[in-house]
Amino acid sequence: MTTPTVSDTRGLLVTFEGPEGSGKTTLVAGIEHWLAANGCEALVLREPGGTKIGERIRAVLLDPATQEMCGETELLLMVASRAQLVREKIEPALEAGIFILCDRFADASVAYQGFGRGLGEKLVHRLNAVALAGIEPDLTFLCLLPPEQGRARLAARETDRLEREAQQFHARVYSGYQAMAASGDSRYVVLDAALPPAEVLATALTHLRRLGHGLLKFL
Ligand code: TMP
Repeated sequence: MTTPTVSDTRGLLVTFEGPEGSGKTTLVAGIEHWLAANGCEALVLREPGGTKIGERIRAVLLDPATQEMCGETELLLMVASRAQLVREKIEPALEAGIFILCDRFADASVAYQGFGRGLGEKLVHRLNAVALAGIEPDLTFLCLLPPEQGRARLAARETDRLEREAQQFHARVYSGYQAMAASGDSRYVVLDAALPPAEVLATALTHLRRLGHGLLKFL
């Protein structure tokens, strides 16, 4: 798998994906910290959320009390949050040459709603296209960890509506991420999330360096 080289004239959009408990939020924090230590201030975003409107949508989506939510509503709300994030934050930041780290993005809808809810990739791609307005991540880290191991990591804290879904749901989500990993698309970088966080971070930095972007000259 080769890492794509991106243009220096715009910012960078790097996204982080993986099943529950895969350590992607820790990885985002590690990269943000590393960039800051080297004088590069990154914009850290998350999905669903990342804007005032998106955070309100997130609260509805993750609330364990919204148990009756059907898969289609879930998908449309994820996409609505994304449409807002792209226009309000991502597009302007890319134009301003900023490095964006986004904790989950469009691929999460493919894995969770397309595979997990069984709504299919085609529908998710069609709706994602409305939200994305042509934006594509420059690089996507897939933090892969079998669902049983991810669940064990979550055991200690209070879980949200999606985390409480059945084991079979999470197994389908995982198969969605595995399909992306096997797709051969050079945008995806697979990370073994079972490894210690410092090793995962070191591997991720190696791949960022390969992007050869001006924002990362210090790497
Ligand atoms: P987080 O736990 O990584 O913050 O993500 C919130 C939850 O939302 C997580 O269970 C994954 C889920 N999700 C989807 O189901 N579809 C999506 O498109 C996104 C972005 C997240």
